[in-house]
Amino acid sequence: MKVIVCKDYDEMSIKAAEFIAEEMKKKKNFVLGLATGSTPVGTYKNLIKMNTNKEIDFSDVVTFNLDEYIGLDKNHDQSFAYFMYENLFNHINIVNTNAHIPSGTETDYDAYCQEYEAMIERAGGIDLQLLGIGSNGHIGFNEPADEFSDITHTVDLTESTIKDNSRFFNSIDEVPKRAVTMGIGSILRAKKILMIVSGKNKAKAVYEAIHGPVDPKMPASALQKHSDVTVIVDEDAATYLKK
Ligand code: GLP
Repeated sequence: MKVIVCKDYDEMSIKAAEFIAEEMKKKKNFVLGLATGSTPVGTYKNLIKMNTNKEIDFSDVVTFNLDEYIGLDKNHDQSFAYFMYENLFNHINIVNTNAHIPSGTETDYDAYCQEYEAMIERAGGIDLQLLGIGSNGHIGFNEPADEFSDITHTVDLTESTIKDNSRFFNSIDEVPKRAVTMGIGSILRAKKILMIVSGKNKAKAVYEAIHGPVDPKMPASALQKHSDVTVIVDEDAATYLKK
């Protein structure tokens, strides 16, 4: 894995956006995997700036988001769909039908998850997948488990993730307990992966992801099995990496 250490969140966000822009310029009908959370907000701001300046063009870009809460409609202000429109899609020249986000309101998730995978495949596979990491090492919503998941599936969120994400809700009781997420296999099938990590609370997880054993109890350690992963971290997140 290639690790780039930046001085702070802002520098990480600029570097990540530049990385994505460079990849986008290489190919028509680029397929970009996207993430939610606080970490990519700055990256998205920089991508919006580049799109406004006409440095990059989203008109033929296809996107697939990693995950969504189950039980939240796409118009709910804490849904990941709402987040993506607020923080990126409303501000760039993407064709809305090219932007895919797993649905949080399906009745038949077995069929839906297979269809989500099929859509990725029909688009030609993901060229670049952007990832954050949870403080417990989750990627997407792939929580610590006994084995690595493969395709898009539903998951029960762990107490620690529910607690981490409760900061966005009025109370912890409002945080959904389940989610739909691309699997570890779906993520590893991306041709290239970019993980961005900021803050001291992620330092242990990112260290274990890169240097620890490959273990489903640390889902991000699966990235060690991929041949083209870049990790952009700020100094706080790099606390253990530097020792
Ligand atoms: C979220 C998402 C992940 C994200 C992680 C960290 O709940 N499911 O895709 O990477 O948790 O979020 P943050 O960047 O807010 O710390």
